Amino acid sequence: MGKTTARYLFANWKMYLNYEESAVLAKQLVKETKKMSSNVTMTVFPSALALAEVVETVKKTSIAVGAQNTYWVQQGGCTGEVSAAMYKAVGAEYALVGHSERRHLFHETNHEVREKIEAALAAGLTPVVCVGETKHERDDDKVEEVLEVQLRAAFEDIAWPADKPVIVAYEPVWAISKGTDPSAGTPCDPVDASKAHRIIEQFLRGLMPKAEIVLLYGGSVRPHNVSEYLRQPHVQGVLVGAASTKLEQWLEIVRAAEAAV
Ligand code: PGA
Repeated sequence: MGKTTARYLFANWKMYLNYEESAVLAKQLVKETKKMSSNVTMTVFPSALALAEVVETVKKTSIAVGAQNTYWVQQGGCTGEVSAAMYKAVGAEYALVGHSERRHLFHETNHEVREKIEAALAAGLTPVVCVGETKHERDDDKVEEVLEVQLRAAFEDIAWPADKPVIVAYEPVWAISKGTDPSAGTPCDPVDASKAHRIIEQFLRGLMPKAEIVLLYGGSVRPHNVSEYLRQPHVQGVLVGAASTKLEQWLEIVRAAEAAV
């Protein structure tokens, strides 16, 4: 991978913040990040309910907005779903696809992940594809195998637009925190994360030789450990859940990333 100096800071607000809380945090971010380094690319992923409001709030800034989940049908009788096209129409630019909470809590398959990636691309969104192994799979020494199966299903023979980077977040399932308590969660050792990133990079390079590849680490990223990840080769940024929902913690992460550029 060519050396990239930009750092990607992606904030997955999950279902932690309601409409009001999302609106408040978005306003605070606009105020606080005015002086943000241009080498930091920040994207926030609010709930479906708050997304349009957040887009409106951040629209004159460099902060981008993404959807946490999208459906693969763009329009129709699909009660309860929101399509990639609908998110695009209100100003979203990215879509998380295959987050482990979707894969495990909602039983999303590799096939559905692929459908969602293609629908996101068709709608003009940039997918952020999440991959990672469970604790059991790691203990059984199957990290490489699991990553390859997930990546092959997601990207093999896909028509990828030349103007979009391939963004993949390595998020070991066991490392994702279960709540917003700052001490909760078991982060992956940064060197192990970097090894997994290397596997991902090599495999993607084989599948998509010409694509620009951006790899993020996610799973219990906190202000005190973010620099360790950003210092590793093959890690261009982080996807942060819990710590991205608390202004002070998130700003510390931003400052650490700016210092790491
Ligand atoms: P976490 O979540 O930072 O709360 O562990 C990361 C993610 O699930 O994207």
